Amino acid sequence: MTRKGILLAGGTGSRLWPITLGVSKQLLPIYDKPMIYYPLSVLMLSGIREVAIITTPEDQPQFQRLLGDGDQWGMQFTWIIQDRPEGLAQAYLLARDFLNGAPSAMVLGDNIFFGHGLPEVLARANEQDSGGTVFGYHVADPERYGVAIFDADGRVTELVEKPAVPRSNFAITGLYFLDGRAPDIAAGIKPSARGELEIVDLLEHYRAESSLQVERMGRGFAWLDTGTPGSLLEAGNFVRTLEERQGMQVGSPDEIAFRQGWIDRTALADRAQAFAKSSYGRHLAGILRDKGQ
Ligand code: DAU
Repeated sequence: MTRKGILLAGGTGSRLWPITLGVSKQLLPIYDKPMIYYPLSVLMLSGIREVAIITTPEDQPQFQRLLGDGDQWGMQFTWIIQDRPEGLAQAYLLARDFLNGAPSAMVLGDNIFFGHGLPEVLARANEQDSGGTVFGYHVADPERYGVAIFDADGRVTELVEKPAVPRSNFAITGLYFLDGRAPDIAAGIKPSARGELEIVDLLEHYRAESSLQVERMGRGFAWLDTGTPGSLLEAGNFVRTLEERQGMQVGSPDEIAFRQGWIDRTALADRAQAFAKSSYGRHLAGILRDKGQ
């Protein structure tokens, strides 16, 4: 069965208040694009064209204004509401009908990945028909994340959400490739002490049956933090530095759709024309001229 995507973009954004009192965190700019373009691009690079976008009831109209039905990128979006932020694993319950037994790739709407060879890493995860794949990333502050603990042979022995005293520096990033059983398994999870259906409890099920791959993303990858005002600014500066130096874009759904062959030159030219006043639009026009990328 073809893998489907879930883009989880709900939550209160309370760590960025008052910025996110009036607008969803995942709509904030990361330099020249809305934050959600970056995780959406990851799903697209994985070859996924059918995506459920989960938002709060209040924010859904703005997301729809931005993203529409996906047709502009040769994709198909399904819109799902999460009434309250009751945990990442709840996304699988909300998306159960949409998935209809298919394997999935879920990405958090505030996670930004960049790295040479990312499409290959994603393709490997996509090929796994059964079990799950998640990505471990070495961080200086593991207590802020879900953490994977490995034994001497590199096998994962434990997954812990925000450990007070971390026994590993490997954070689990917000990108989860799971097989078609995920909604059933999520249905069996109990809320944690903080009242959420925890993603680590869902992953623990796969780990316990030895069907969870933890792929380490090494030094050549950037997994950018968007959790604080400072890190938000740094993420924007990082993208700006890359884009200005290389004259290429990071996280452009229009470019990826074109390179995947989901839209043709005419469609890309229309988009470039519509956005002609912005640097994003001028870059799209550049793709049509440039043969060397
Ligand atoms: O970014 C990776 C980390 O994401 C993982 O390492 C952790 O294991 C995972 O729990 C999560 O940690 P966070 O502290 O970032 O979780 P947070 O509650 O901030 O939610 C992450 C994003 O998902 C955020 O943009 C809001 C959204 N969200 C969150 C919850 C709990 C929802 O859309 N619905 C929800 O119910």
